[in-house]
Amino acid sequence: MKPMPCFDTVAKYYDEAFGTAADLGDVEMYKSFARRFGGPVLEIGCGTGRVLKPIADMGIEIDGIDVSEAMISILKSKIADISPMPNICLGDMRRIELTKRYRLVTIPFRTLQHMITIEDKLQALAAAKNHLLDDGHLIFDVAFPNYESLASGFGEETLSAEWRAETKSDKFGRMFFRREGYCQKDQVMIGSLIFRLLDGDNVLNEEIQPLQMHFFSFPEIEALCNSARLEIEEFYGSYDLKPFEENSTQMVFVVKASR
Ligand SMILES: C[S@@+](CC[C@H](N)C(=O)[O-])C[C@H]1O[C@@H](n2cnc3c(N)ncnc32)[C@H](O)[C@@H]1O
Repeated sequence: MKPMPCFDTVAKYYDEAFGTAADLGDVEMYKSFARRFGGPVLEIGCGTGRVLKPIADMGIEIDGIDVSEAMISILKSKIADISPMPNICLGDMRRIELTKRYRLVTIPFRTLQHMITIEDKLQALAAAKNHLLDDGHLIFDVAFPNYESLASGFGEETLSAEWRAETKSDKFGRMFFRREGYCQKDQVMIGSLIFRLLDGDNVLNEEIQPLQMHFFSFPEIEALCNSARLEIEEFYGSYDLKPFEENSTQMVFVVKASR
């Protein structure tokens, strides 16, 4: 099993870069699934708790696991007063060995796309399934690929988020996305997230997080679920649970163990 790339660089910018993007809408979706299915919930790839904390704030029992120590340490600092206190573990989603079983296991915000090989994907799905109660559900979302844009624009930087870095100064942070390559055969996008601290036009600091993401087709998810003995119960094309259409940008799956 190959180690996963480290997500520690992105951790310190994550909440500013992604936490304020209200248009994401996935937090409300996962909150409503947690309300509908109930706890205990396990979030795989819980990061800094962008999704986990709002669910814990609803009084729903939720635990989390993530491979990045830096992500987890930010999350822990935000949940010190929450009851019941979430159990947050450091671990790889391909090999989770918790004793507890869950009514709902989630893999939010395209985290499954960090699984590059078929073995990675099957191990991650099997580990998630192994932590379900008998009547439990696994919910995950992945991007629906636009193959034309994936295979173009190499080297270009796109501004993806901007935030004020300090309250009493003009310094601000910016996150750019740069696509560097795309492997058509494996459907893997190679790119970087670039974080810059700026004062006007002056770049004060720059950090780069390399990124590799696999892009799934619907039939691939169907085949992986069949192999992992998981049954797709519901399938949506957006975070507000609209039916999937050709121009959808998300795929949201609600699955359970096959009988
Ligand atoms: C896109 S972020 C999502 C974080 C959080 N779920 C959210 O929605 O804000 C992906 C997260 O998955 C974690 N991750 C990546 N590969 C992982 C692996 N093999 N096992 C566990 N976590 C992993 C990263 O550290 C990161 O926190």
